[in-house]
Amino acid sequence: MSISKVIVTGGANGVGRALVRRCLDDGMTVIACDIDEPGLKALADEHAGRPLDTHVCDVADHAACDAFMDRVLADHPDVDGLVNNAGLYLGQPVWDYDDPTMERVVGVNVMGPIWLSRRFAGHLLPEKRRGAIVNLSSVAGEVGSSDALYGTVKAGVIGLTKSNAMNFAPYIRVNVVSPGLIVNTAIADRIPGYRYAEYKRQEQLDGDILPEDVANVCAYLLSDHSKTLTGSLLRADNGCYPR
Ligand SMILES: NC(=O)c1ccc[n+]([C@@H]2O[C@H](COP(=O)([O-])OP(=O)(O)OC[C@H]3O[C@@H](n4cnc5c(N)ncnc54)[C@H](O)[C@@H]3O)[C@@H](O)[C@H]2O)c1
Repeated sequence: MSISKVIVTGGANGVGRALVRRCLDDGMTVIACDIDEPGLKALADEHAGRPLDTHVCDVADHAACDAFMDRVLADHPDVDGLVNNAGLYLGQPVWDYDDPTMERVVGVNVMGPIWLSRRFAGHLLPEKRRGAIVNLSSVAGEVGSSDALYGTVKAGVIGLTKSNAMNFAPYIRVNVVSPGLIVNTAIADRIPGYRYAEYKRQEQLDGDILPEDVANVCAYLLSDHSKTLTGSLLRADNGCYPR
């Protein structure tokens, strides 16, 4: 069963923006949320007339996630897909973090996906409805990061994926995408120069990893072509850091 109505967090830019387009092109209804209000407006204008619903929602805010899901479940009770794509990478050493900033990075990258996944599954499972969740991790969650907070949260996303795959079986498939360095994104712009060069040096394939390339892997995990996969990690990384 391919997904017909999907929530995409962080839909205003980068991978999320590319995925919104890909899902619309595939015939899905898309519900996109972001904290970037002008970005959401531009997204809505770009896709005027298509089945796209946009919402401002800070996924690090539990109450905002609940209010967002209340609206989505009221307006789209047949929603069957969730992509936890919104991410925050500050690219700084652990010494430079204060507690509120640490909480923010954990909130955006881990707590948001936990809260949204729980609401989503809580809606589908009582009726034994089928669905799919795709989470966004990173090569940094597998091999480590010069930003310890980011390495920690992205490893957490992999654990969350495997655990939710177990908890939400057999009705909701839960998988994770682990991209390498994605060019033309705000996150890539924040990677320290020496780490950026090292990621590129590690890649075995030539050519850049584009937001659209990562969106394509997400779309596969939403589609029926991946119907045997749950708890799986798929990479979009040009073969960097073979592992
Ligand atoms: N860019 C890379 O090189 C790279 C590499 C590996 C993994 N990733 C992961 O891929 C995902 C997409 O990254 P991207 O490169 O498209 O990043 P991006 O910064 O281009 O886009 C992220 C989007 O998330 C939104 N966002 C940030 N905080 C939010 C919040 N609290 N609530 C709602 N929306 C919020 C931003 O406004 C933005 O629109 C992220 O989870 C990221 O960690 C990125």
